[in-house]
Amino acid sequence: MKKVSVVGLGYIGLPTALIAAQAGYEVCGFDVNREKVDKINTGDSVIFEPEISDRLWDVLSKSTFRAYKDLQYADCFLIAVPTPFNADKTADLSYVYNASELVARRVMPGNLVILESTVPVGTTERVVEIIQDISGLKSGVDFFVAYCPERVLPGKIFKELIDNDRVIGGTCQRACELARMFYGKFVKGFLHITDDKSAEMVKLVENSSRDVQIAFANQVAGMCYSAGIDPFTVIDLANRHPRVKILSPGCGVGGHCIAIDPYFLIEKFPQDTHLLQAARFVNEQKPDYVVQQVQEKIIELQDHGILRPRVLSLGLTFKPNIDDIRESPALKIAQTLAHMHHEIDFVAYDHNVGKVEMKRLGFDVVTDLWYELKQADIVVVLVKHKEFNCIRDHMLEGKVVIDPCGLLHDLYAHQTHAFLEGAVRLQQGMHKTVA
Ligand SMILES: NC(=O)c1ccc[n+]([C@@H]2O[C@H](COP(=O)([O-])OP(=O)(O)OC[C@H]3O[C@@H](n4cnc5c(N)ncnc54)[C@H](O)[C@@H]3O)[C@@H](O)[C@H]2O)c1
Repeated sequence: MKKVSVVGLGYIGLPTALIAAQAGYEVCGFDVNREKVDKINTGDSVIFEPEISDRLWDVLSKSTFRAYKDLQYADCFLIAVPTPFNADKTADLSYVYNASELVARRVMPGNLVILESTVPVGTTERVVEIIQDISGLKSGVDFFVAYCPERVLPGKIFKELIDNDRVIGGTCQRACELARMFYGKFVKGFLHITDDKSAEMVKLVENSSRDVQIAFANQVAGMCYSAGIDPFTVIDLANRHPRVKILSPGCGVGGHCIAIDPYFLIEKFPQDTHLLQAARFVNEQKPDYVVQQVQEKIIELQDHGILRPRVLSLGLTFKPNIDDIRESPALKIAQTLAHMHHEIDFVAYDHNVGKVEMKRLGFDVVTDLWYELKQADIVVVLVKHKEFNCIRDHMLEGKVVIDPCGLLHDLYAHQTHAFLEGAVRLQQGMHKTVA
């Protein structure tokens, strides 16, 4: 296997293409977004991810990778296209089926086709049918298909592409062997072999498990706020139990994976997903809960004569230290607050989101965090970007701080108990009175 065509040059496809090229494959990337293809070929890595720029320049200069506007013939086709959901939360598999049709027009005897997109159980079977119907070739005899889900963490994609264990779900023995050979060239983690349906299910239960655990943490937070205590302290202490590992609460769940993938199971197995449905409900409600907390504080400030308080929200992305805003609860909260412009003077700050994108989202571009902190009456911490670790106690003096993701707890945790008490009061959204 020498030549690889990667279909879809996004957060997953592009890094995988680069790693494969650096591992010795001749890699042709293909994307339907023609502008993206042009940018990538000029060395613009398009996505925000550590190491990506250097790796892209490396493979472009060695001519082991190039992006194309049409799909190139290859020994192995790797599909990494989006799998969003429709307005009614059913899976939108149109990108996967469209990519499969394109592959079907290029596939040759002996080729391997790998699907990496996260998909509902049974989708790989449908991909096989599409390729067979169009190409006239037979799966398991002429060409071979495997489902190999991706489980990387944005921000650490290259490390995890290499180090993580991978699940290889072959539709036949030969597909498993070929996929193992393909990944074996750059994956140091263990390659676990199974069938395609099991691999599809593995990916979906991994992300659904995270969703359920985050929902539990969010419910713990809700109970603690109602009881007037600090959820982050409670969770820290509960986690000292040798068999308890509660995750961190936040302002909701976002991204292209955890907020979507449980619905692929809920759609297919409605009777067996009550827990998943409840978790989705809890996590989807969380942004509204945060907005409600902000609204309550706005009214309190107005009652104290600050008629149009200035509200600063920190972070817009769906998790810290990335630029990805897909399904972001922080963005949803910020956009809701921005619509309250008759009552408040609203500013959103996120240095990871580019100026053009900020404008497209309808936000003013602000770049001076310290100035914005100084001007704000209410600070809403939505994402714990590394940059915010520099915020110090005196910068928040006299301000209302609403902190659903526990930045202040992290900042104060190593300090004295008196500071921690201050943090508790801040997280409850009261005026800051740090002892
Ligand atoms: N982003 C993550 O952290 C992550 C992690 C694990 C799994 N996944 C899964 O990987 C898949 C890809 O996600 P992503 O984040 O890379 O998406 P993305 O939106 O960043 O990239 C997908 C790319 O595919 C292109 N595309 C769409 N249809 C195409 C077609 N028919 N032919 C060629 N290109 C096409 C789009 O233009 C886009 O550039 C999804 O199923 C996602 O759930 C993502």
